[in-house]
Amino acid sequence: MSTTTKRILLAVLSAALVLLAFTAAYRITLRLTTPQTAAPPAAPPAGESGTAAPGQPAATEQTAAPDADQTTRSGEQQTANPAQTGETAPATEAPSAAEPAAPQAEDPVSPTYIGGILVVNKSYPLPRSYDPGGLTDECESAFYEMQAAAEEEGLDLYISSGFRSYELQSSLYQRYCDRDGQAAADTYSARPGHSEHQSGLAIDLNTITSDFAYTAEGKWVNEHCWEYGFILRYPADKVSVTGYMYEPWHIRYLGRETAKAVYDSGLCLEEYLGIDSVYR
Ligand code: DAL
Ligand code: ZN
Repeated sequence: MSTTTKRILLAVLSAALVLLAFTAAYRITLRLTTPQTAAPPAAPPAGESGTAAPGQPAATEQTAAPDADQTTRSGEQQTANPAQTGETAPATEAPSAAEPAAPQAEDPVSPTYIGGILVVNKSYPLPRSYDPGGLTDECESAFYEMQAAAEEEGLDLYISSGFRSYELQSSLYQRYCDRDGQAAADTYSARPGHSEHQSGLAIDLNTITSDFAYTAEGKWVNEHCWEYGFILRYPADKVSVTGYMYEPWHIRYLGRETAKAVYDSGLCLEEYLGIDSVYR
């Protein structure tokens, strides 16, 4: 090979190397400057987003099976738990420590007092949070006094059902609706928030059947409970006013003075106070 040919070959090789180097550099520059397109976030499974959706109290209530106080509570807790779906919320959506907590939705219901008497019926509910934690002390001692008086006559009075929380009433009412349908259930069971039992001022005595009226205990209670501050809340002849069937076992504590006045009047509590008892 001549010297000239060698020089030409060397020049061609050098040019090729320089070209390769430029091409590589250009590709790297392109990769660094082209914007990266973010992949769209995967949509959550329909079930999870449904479970996590806020503002669905009905879902919790629907899952409350009879005897399912626990189920109801745990259901509420699960709904309130943001970690349940396993999804991690974007950092920008997480409230910072400095942000105030979201205000709790206030219960629009408040207890109704008429002439100093706490009224609970189909027209006047109690707030969900109303919870005296049991029978009030006054109601309980009045019952024990009445029980002792009945015992002196050889009668046995006992409490079958006293205080019932909103949640327990909800569970009972749902069970009755499932069994008998809502229209029938409404004639003998209060909707949650509408039961006097939630007030801690109502007691179901002995056997919760209409036969109680014909027992010695039932007759004695009918005649004497007012002396201890109670009234028979749902009399047989006031079904259309109270909104409930005759309940000879259900007594309501009003205090001696008011109970005597209501008893003497021959009226039921709604008539005595001039109010109604209807779901609106
Ligand atoms: N049985 C009465 C009406 C109640 O459920 O409170
Ligand atoms: Zn009752």
